[in-house]
Amino acid sequence: MAAGKGTRMKSKLPKVLHSLAGRALLAHVVDTASALQPRNVVLITGHGATEVEAALAGYISASAPFSLNFARQEPQLGTGHAVQQALPYLADDGVVIVLSGDVPLTHADTLRQLLAVGGGDKLALLTLELPDPTGYGRIVREGDAVQAIVEHKDASDAQRAIREIYSGILAVPAARLRTWLGRLDNRNAQSEYYLTDIVKMAVADGVPVVAHKITDALQVAGVNSPVQLAELERAYQRQQALALMEQGVRLADPARLDIRGSLECAQDVSIDVNCVFEGTVGLGEGVRIGANCVIANARLAAGVVVHPFTHIDGEKAGVSVGAGSLIGPFARLRPGAQLGAEVHIGNFVEVKNSTLGDGAKANHLAYLGDASVGARVNFGAGSITANYDGANKHRTVIGDDVHVGSNCVLVAPITLGAGGTVGGGSTLTKDAPAGALSVARGRQVAIANWNRPKKAKP
Ligand code: UD1
Ligand code: CA
Repeated sequence: MAAGKGTRMKSKLPKVLHSLAGRALLAHVVDTASALQPRNVVLITGHGATEVEAALAGYISASAPFSLNFARQEPQLGTGHAVQQALPYLADDGVVIVLSGDVPLTHADTLRQLLAVGGGDKLALLTLELPDPTGYGRIVREGDAVQAIVEHKDASDAQRAIREIYSGILAVPAARLRTWLGRLDNRNAQSEYYLTDIVKMAVADGVPVVAHKITDALQVAGVNSPVQLAELERAYQRQQALALMEQGVRLADPARLDIRGSLECAQDVSIDVNCVFEGTVGLGEGVRIGANCVIANARLAAGVVVHPFTHIDGEKAGVSVGAGSLIGPFARLRPGAQLGAEVHIGNFVEVKNSTLGDGAKANHLAYLGDASVGARVNFGAGSITANYDGANKHRTVIGDDVHVGSNCVLVAPITLGAGGTVGGGSTLTKDAPAGALSVARGRQVAIANWNRPKKAKP
């Protein structure tokens, strides 16, 4: 169910598209559902339907092993009415799990347990006890047997004292669901069609109702406001941080780490405070990440050290950093940066779509774009590849062991032969031969006894 408005978010963006750990809330729910290998996932949309459908259709790849369908609910007349819209997509021999698009942290295992207690023929409710159940539907039992769910607004004082609540998640045989939804009415305090009314119908039809009671409230916590979104974000990040530490990763502070995607770490990785990892990141054995780094879509081999304030973003092309390389502080690696082993990239150095051979160094204030840089090249402070002529990008090829002085401009396309040297301050527009010193700048002249201009007397 993802048709609700989410008024309390006070946002133009539909609530279920707000992101938690870099993914839309609804994407979390769909990912959990897909872990159960369903035949079919139906998203019930309403508020912001076009936007929600576009975002999710893009998120789920065409190769997903289930079919993704959208059912529009317009207007929104309650949760029972919402699920009615999905009925055309549901086969009678299946079991349906109803989830909410704004409840992102349910574990797939919990849903498997719910399916197991439902046994394919019962109505299974996911419930939990809350110290303050205000606002939730209450689980009304006679003895042990579940009789009904009564919504808070419809509940008597005695029912309001019940602390066991309905989480919003249930599993039900599709054929039963179809019959019961056909019988719903909206004669209640909110004039809504309540999905929860099917519990009474199951009892009347002699279908067993079972409650699977869990204790972890986070798994059924919904997002209604920016505060709740931030709380769930921190809770989720803490879970990820704990899982990394379980594997042996050393985190300077688990509360100051954000993973918005997947982070895989080999042995003896350490991460200082305030680092953000996005997309798919892999850190090899012994990698050390300094404070305040943002690293996205990159693979760092064993022993790499990333000094503070470094930004690495491989986007689609990726970034790879070879073993033992030193990156930063204040370095920027962009898509297609492929660094060999023992490469040094220092402060205010930007590398984009370039390969650097083993042992190459650019330690200060440099730009390498669309370049093939050989092994052991030393690229001087303030030197750049001029890769863009205003219309097209061109490559710079630098052979092994070339030494480029400071403040050089290499105007691409250009090739520098192996072992050559480029004099500081040169602007090279022609290929430089191997082994030679290439210099392209005005010669130094000295004019003796030079008289500096003087100010005229007023
Ligand atoms: C619902 C349950 C309540 C339970 C609570 C748990 C009903 C009648 N009540 O209450 O027993 O304790 O969840 O959080 O089901 N939605 C639609 N279309 C609609 C109405 C809602 O898609 O017409 C979606 C919402 O966007 C949301 C979900 O259904 O994702 C639940 O709706 P919400 O209004 O939060 O339900 P509650 O009234 O809180
Ligand atoms: Ca709710």
